Amino acid sequence: MRGVILAGGTGSRLLPLTKVTNKHLLPVGQEPMIFHPIKKLLSAGIRDICVVTGTEHMGDVVGLLGSGHEFECDFTYRVQDRAGGIAEALGLARDFARGDKVCVILGDNIFQDELGLFAERFARQGHGARILLKEVEDPHRFGVAEIAGDRLVGIEEKPKLPKSRLAVTGIYFYDDRVFEIVRTCSPSRRGELEITDVNNAYIARGEMGFDALEGWWTDAGTFESLARANELALATQAGKR
Ligand code: G1P
Repeated sequence: MRGVILAGGTGSRLLPLTKVTNKHLLPVGQEPMIFHPIKKLLSAGIRDICVVTGTEHMGDVVGLLGSGHEFECDFTYRVQDRAGGIAEALGLARDFARGDKVCVILGDNIFQDELGLFAERFARQGHGARILLKEVEDPHRFGVAEIAGDRLVGIEEKPKLPKSRLAVTGIYFYDDRVFEIVRTCSPSRRGELEITDVNNAYIARGEMGFDALEGWWTDAGTFESLARANELALATQAGKR
């Protein structure tokens, strides 16, 4: 399996912190934010990693991460020219994926669980996609899963009236058909290709599996969630000493 870290976007919710740098380079705990998802891929044994980011800060991202030599992995970089959405960014990794399965992580997702077990379950699933959910207090900020019995029947992006408290985290496993699905997506009202549309396409085909994260999880795209990510990362770091 190959890894994809999506680290684009304007970071507008964090201005002025993101005026001269990329959100994913901001500190979380003792490291730049993007180190966290990268290390989760590495500890799941994924060593071919594509990083997608915008034109403005690609130089800094490459300056920080380099070839991958320091991380004992191989980084490939892809440039997203405009804020075209998460699904568009993923589409840029098509050639990189070379027909393999991919584990995709949004670069601002900070979490405790290791990914190995979920990757194994996805491998056993054979084909389709698998997503990771987490119960949260503020589901309206996320993609929200609708569950009927033990089935995932749909995802709504940032609903006013969430049908559950299960947020769709930014950790996704896809087979190689994801790139065809991205091609069939049309821009949403905000002009972006939405990852929720991609996931709903897999649900409609009956090919979406899911798991729930057991440990803590947060995004880090707002001041509140960035502060929480820092607290959790620092506490975890302290616990490891
Ligand atoms: C994105 C996805 C959303 C998901 C979230 C997880 O939202 O669109 O479905 O729940 O990431 O971090 P964004 O943070 O880009 O608003």
